[in-house]
Amino acid sequence: MAPFLFAGINMAHIDIIIGSTLGAAEYVAEHLAEQLQAQQHSTELHYQPDLSRLLASRGADTLWLIVTSTHGAGQVPDNLQPFTQDLAKSQPKLHDLHYAVVALGDSNYDTFCAGGRQVDQLLEQNGAQKIGDRLEIDVTQHDLPEDAADIWFAEWSQNLS
Ligand SMILES: Cc1cc2nc3c(=O)[nH]c(=O)nc-3n(C[C@H](O)[C@H](O)[C@H](O)COP(=O)(O)O)c2cc1C
Repeated sequence: MAPFLFAGINMAHIDIIIGSTLGAAEYVAEHLAEQLQAQQHSTELHYQPDLSRLLASRGADTLWLIVTSTHGAGQVPDNLQPFTQDLAKSQPKLHDLHYAVVALGDSNYDTFCAGGRQVDQLLEQNGAQKIGDRLEIDVTQHDLPEDAADIWFAEWSQNLS
C-alpha cells in the first residue's frame, strides 16, 4: 500500500463515526482515538453521528473512520441509522473524502459484519476514497476486539504519515 498524504499535511483530523448498541464498537473507537492521538492526529468521537454536521465541518485533511457493529437482521445499530439513511437518501458527492471502516460482528450470523459492509458500500457509491482494507473483527475470535484493532492499526496508520 502506498503511503497516503493528506494534500501534503502529515497530521490528519479523524472523525470517528460510531455505531454501537452494547458498547463493544464504542470501546474499539475510543481505543483507536487514543492510538491516533498518540501519533499527533486530532480526533473527534461521534456517538450520534450527524451527516450534515460531519459534511459541513470536514476539511482537506479530514478522514472518516467508521467503527460499527451489526445488529438486528444485518443492520447498523440504531444510533448509526440516521447517518446511513441520510447518506443513502441525499447521496452527497464525496470524491474528496477519505475513509476507513472497522466492522465488528459475530461469524455465527449469515449477515456477518453486514453493518460495516453497508456503510463501506454507501461511502464508495458516493465517491469517497477508502484508505486501506476494511477490518472485520469477529468477536467470537477475540476476547478483546481492541487487540484485533491494534494489529490492523499498526499497518493501516502508516497510510497517514
Ligand atoms: C441481537 C443481536 C443481533 C446481532 N446481529 C448480528 C448480525 O446480524 N451480524 C453480525 O455480524 N453480528 C451480529 N451481532 C453481533 C454483534 O455485532 C457483536 O456482538 C458486537 O460485538 C456488538 O457490538 P456493540 O456492543 O458495539 O453493539 C448481533 C448481536 C446481537 C446481540
